[in-house]
Amino acid sequence: MPADHRPILLSGIQPSGELMIGHYLGALKNWVGLQADHDCLFMLVDLHAITVRQDPAELRRRCLDFLALYVACGIDPSHSTVFVQSHVPTHAELAWVLNCFTYMGELGRMTQFKEKSQKQELNVSAGLFNYPVLMAADILLYQSHLVPVGEDQKQHLELTRDIAMRFNNLYGETFRVPECFIPPVGARIMSLQDPTSKMSKSDPNPRSYVALLDPPDLVRSKIKKAVTDSGTEVVFGNDRPAVSNLMTIYSSLTGHGFPAIEERYQGKGYADFKADLAEIVVEFLRPIQDRYHAIRSDKSELTAILKRGAEAALARSRPTVAKVYKKLGFIAAS
Ligand code: TYM
Repeated sequence: MPADHRPILLSGIQPSGELMIGHYLGALKNWVGLQADHDCLFMLVDLHAITVRQDPAELRRRCLDFLALYVACGIDPSHSTVFVQSHVPTHAELAWVLNCFTYMGELGRMTQFKEKSQKQELNVSAGLFNYPVLMAADILLYQSHLVPVGEDQKQHLELTRDIAMRFNNLYGETFRVPECFIPPVGARIMSLQDPTSKMSKSDPNPRSYVALLDPPDLVRSKIKKAVTDSGTEVVFGNDRPAVSNLMTIYSSLTGHGFPAIEERYQGKGYADFKADLAEIVVEFLRPIQDRYHAIRSDKSELTAILKRGAEAALARSRPTVAKVYKKLGFIAAS
């Protein structure tokens, strides 16, 4: 790749569960929007995915499914570096080092760890606890300027910044301290079945989310059966979490602001609004699904993208590890 002076942008998604509309609106949409003006690295974070048990055959298949979806959503692998985390050994190497500069107290305060460990209770792995340190390594390895994520990852980004500053204070300027990009609308899409909890691919009830590969009739039925608030008006507000969540999806996909949506549905009920939203989602997904099916069938092209991506990512991340090892006092291998 030629020398590039654009800011470095990095992000990733775990290839577990199904890629769904929350990922798209919170992350992927912004990756695509920021792609032209940034030097981008997009990952499939399989090392993170194994913090909960995965079926090996499914994990293998899903990595390629997710890659094809990245491309179908608009990620251009000829412009951006797209790779699988486990293909690039520097991630695990730097994560180990950063573990020695992260405190148990900091990791214990992570909301996502508290939530996930409560669900699992028995056999909470050290990997789940250390998860944010690997994420910090992902980001700091590439001297990233910007990390576009949904709201739930903000705390992990703050920890990454703290670790970077701590290391820099001890050893002199080593890591760039990254900025977080959180979209103004769509950073936290809520479950269609419970608007007080985040839409999640690991939700056991698939009616709580719309997957990017859901067929049109399933999308229509999921949106039709989404819970609503008491009352009938299509109005945005804290006292109406369910309709506000649906309005957020509507707004993110159409670009219409909340006042315009409220005006359009004045005097109409939830049913009209939901029927229109379902068609908006179906029409939004249609071209993505068409592209996905074409791309997914070309396994050799997908494998080639990942090979190129892993080579580029490894070459770019090696100097950071070398710098860190030198600062720590490790003697050079040659
Ligand atoms: P993950 O795989 O849980 O989610 C991927 C991205 O999707 C966003 N997201 C959402 N946004 C809005 N509403 C939702 N309901 C919703 N659910 C998920 C997430 O905020 C995230 O941006 N630790 C990360 C992956 C990761 C990473 C990184 C990200 C590993 N290393 C380095 C950035 C940089 C994760 O588990 O995301």
